[in-house]
Amino acid sequence: MIKLPNYIVHGGDYNPDQWLKTPEMIDDDMRLMKEAHINSATVGIFSWSMLEPEEGVFRFEWLDDIMDKLNKNGIGAILATPSGARPAWLAESFPEVLRVNENGIRNEYGVRHNHCLTSPVYREKVRIINTALAERYAEHPALTMWHVSNEYSGECHCEKCQQAFREWVREYYHNDLDELNDKWWTGFWSHRITDWSQINSPKERGENHSSALKLCWDRFVTESHISFYENEAAPLRRITPDIPITTNFMRMYDRIDYQKFAKHLDIVSWDNYPDFTGGNIPDKAVYTAFCHDMFRSMKNGQPFFMMESTPSIVNGRPVNKLPRPGIQTLTALQAVAHGADSVQYFQWRKSRGGHEKFHGAVVDHSGRSDTRVFREITRTGSLLEALGGVTGARCESKAAVICDFENSRAVKHFCGYNNERRDYFDECVKWYRPFTEAGISVDVITMDADFDAYGLVIAPFLYMLKDGVEEKIREYVRRGGHFLTTYLSAVVDSDDLCFLGGLPAGSLKEVFGISVCETDSLFENAPGKSSFLGKEYDVEHVCDILSAEGAAVLGEYKSDFYAGKPSFTENSFGKGTAYYAAFRNDGELSRDVCAYLVKKAGIKPDTNLKTSEGVIVRKRGEFIFVMNFTNEPKETELDGKYIDVLSGEACGSSVKIGEEECRVLKQL
Ligand code: GLA
Ligand code: ZN
Repeated sequence: MIKLPNYIVHGGDYNPDQWLKTPEMIDDDMRLMKEAHINSATVGIFSWSMLEPEEGVFRFEWLDDIMDKLNKNGIGAILATPSGARPAWLAESFPEVLRVNENGIRNEYGVRHNHCLTSPVYREKVRIINTALAERYAEHPALTMWHVSNEYSGECHCEKCQQAFREWVREYYHNDLDELNDKWWTGFWSHRITDWSQINSPKERGENHSSALKLCWDRFVTESHISFYENEAAPLRRITPDIPITTNFMRMYDRIDYQKFAKHLDIVSWDNYPDFTGGNIPDKAVYTAFCHDMFRSMKNGQPFFMMESTPSIVNGRPVNKLPRPGIQTLTALQAVAHGADSVQYFQWRKSRGGHEKFHGAVVDHSGRSDTRVFREITRTGSLLEALGGVTGARCESKAAVICDFENSRAVKHFCGYNNERRDYFDECVKWYRPFTEAGISVDVITMDADFDAYGLVIAPFLYMLKDGVEEKIREYVRRGGHFLTTYLSAVVDSDDLCFLGGLPAGSLKEVFGISVCETDSLFENAPGKSSFLGKEYDVEHVCDILSAEGAAVLGEYKSDFYAGKPSFTENSFGKGTAYYAAFRNDGELSRDVCAYLVKKAGIKPDTNLKTSEGVIVRKRGEFIFVMNFTNEPKETELDGKYIDVLSGEACGSSVKIGEEECRVLKQL
């Protein structure tokens, strides 16, 4: 049985191996961690050259000492495997471990995430060090979790990877070249393949590669990462079967299909670096909320970890502004509100040298605990202790937005319509936003997920319809579901071949009661106009011109030669309803449509607390999080008896939420 921590983990990346020459620093760390209510430290992420300074020579003594010290101080260890960066000797003895770029040039030694995913030598070396780590610390009382590698990313185009790709493609197309030529539509530009050896990895921007080949490469890269991870995880699972294993994901990085990858993890974790230092913070808060909900939804709503966040500044933006006081705590509690069972930082102590020496840390170069940042982290830590009861609690959602990573890749690869404005993830957030702003929990799911768990499913820009999804949508609506999709949906199949016979594909014409006549693209500063239930909206970037074939027309175009043609339709099908929003909008239409849809689908906000601009209300278990992302105080009326979980005090008839503050309530 996998054992997950039964408290909110509060900690972060800890690199004591950079400080072994000053052991007093490490004693200071222990004292300071306790002072800051830190209960976890992630160790060893980039420690390979300290753990195995020469091939086959292992030095664990320093780590033994750290693990013992953590344990003595009641701090759990999340132990990392070091594959994210490698010792120089490894690259020197086995150059094949280094990555080759898409032009066929092997990278020099240096940086990180610079390894071939296929290299048998690298996989073997990783397996050896992981096995040694697991054997050494299997019984160590501090060990709470495995952090495999770090932010897997990128791809390798070496000959070994090319060969593996060819084999992958061959298996995918059942060893049948004819099938491959059909699926890749290779008659186009005479790209017919007559031997598997003629297949090569595509270039990111190469237009001479069919989008089907690019999709195959994406799938192969995802599977290479998964099998690389599985190779890393195998000894850990065998030697420490109770210890959960994760790897940290990055926001909307879609070069790896995280939704597929997540199935291999015991717990999903991700690194959260929202820019809450300026601009429209409430807007960015919705984006972050979306990411939390997406990562939570990857494992059926199981709580996830926020493996990294910054305690203060970052270092890689053009200008790295300090976040205002309170923002760190708000960022931490927002994660918990959406299902995180951890609040972790990059990094505990600032490194003295190297690329990230000016990246924020809980402990600055001064080494002091009376800094603004240290105090805020300490406060966050004590709030998380007060919130301990939320650990493991789930968020219940009755509505879902589909945001599918494979669809995202397919959308990126095609050429046509509006090539400047695609922004698939932005489009998903646009349709997610109104729910979050109205205090309605939403799951962010794939097109393969079970729709029946929801009364309402929104599928923005669902360009690719994978096998079986057409039937799934039809049956969902027939049984009583409410389903909305938008322009350029149901256009291609899993192999990126266009559906024939008119859009939307196949029987969806009947489900939506429409057919798509043409698709127009609009110039950036020349939006069109459309109505929806009597109000006018801008039409942006791209739109489908519809013909209603049974559907009720709720909106029509008011501009261009297609003025008067349907732009928004609603169709009863079986016991449910299917909606088609045919144009891209600037957010106003999606807000009004969502208000309309939740009524139709009978979906209620999670609580009866009133939301206001910039304030997000979220319910997790019995905990109600009221988060104010604006820089002015807000007040919300309360109907019933509530207590403030963080202070333990009873609330009156309303609750005040300070600027950039989060209150956590419980109804009595
Ligand atoms: C990533 C990495 C960390 C560190 C931080 C800095 O998330 O995982 O090692 O580089 O960024 O923000
Ligand atoms: Zn390679």
